[in-house]
Amino acid sequence: MNIQVIYYSKYGSTRQIAESIAKKLGTDNVTDIREHKAITGDLIIIGSAIFKEVAHEKIMQLLSDEQGKLKEKQVAIFVVCLSRERTTKKIDNKEGGGPVYIEKFEKVLAKVPFASKIFGGRMILAEMDDADRERTKEFAKRVKMPLKDVNVMSEAEVDEFAQDIKDKLNV
Ligand SMILES: Cc1cc2nc3c(=O)[nH]c(=O)nc-3n(C[C@H](O)[C@H](O)[C@H](O)COP(=O)(O)O)c2cc1C
Repeated sequence: MNIQVIYYSKYGSTRQIAESIAKKLGTDNVTDIREHKAITGDLIIIGSAIFKEVAHEKIMQLLSDEQGKLKEKQVAIFVVCLSRERTTKKIDNKEGGGPVYIEKFEKVLAKVPFASKIFGGRMILAEMDDADRERTKEFAKRVKMPLKDVNVMSEAEVDEFAQDIKDKLNV
């Protein structure tokens, strides 16, 4: 089975997770969506970091598969985020969080994914660009959260996802 991993990462945590998934599944076919050229695998693993409740638009475009490139392929999906549980905003009653991000992926993909996973990510204030730092400050203030770095990345989660895929591939 030829496995290809395609991801979007702004600050590196999703890249790290994507590369670790690829390594555990024995492939070096792993690319950032911004450098992605062609679908070359049989099983395509597609993942994105979540910013302001959404994945990167190019990831959503790829999943929507307007050109039918994923039609005959198996597709596994993952998101990297900090709100891993389903949340409901008090202000507008809008749902968010990991399960909602995965549901959005499934909706555009329009077929049952081969596997799916919500990964915990990492947010380091000193690494952020000014706009993101400002947004994070405002968000922390609004929800009365302390403003500090967060790292909930876990190699065990990568192991679980890789094992789930291996089990389904029967390898
Ligand atoms: C400006 C900003 C907005 C974010 N918005 C969300 C969000 O809406 N939901 C969420 O769960 N995580 C959110 N996060 C957390 C990121 O998903 C997390 O930091 C992720 O690990 C970033 O991935 P990357 O390192 O690959 O860029 C946000 C982070 C920043 C800096």
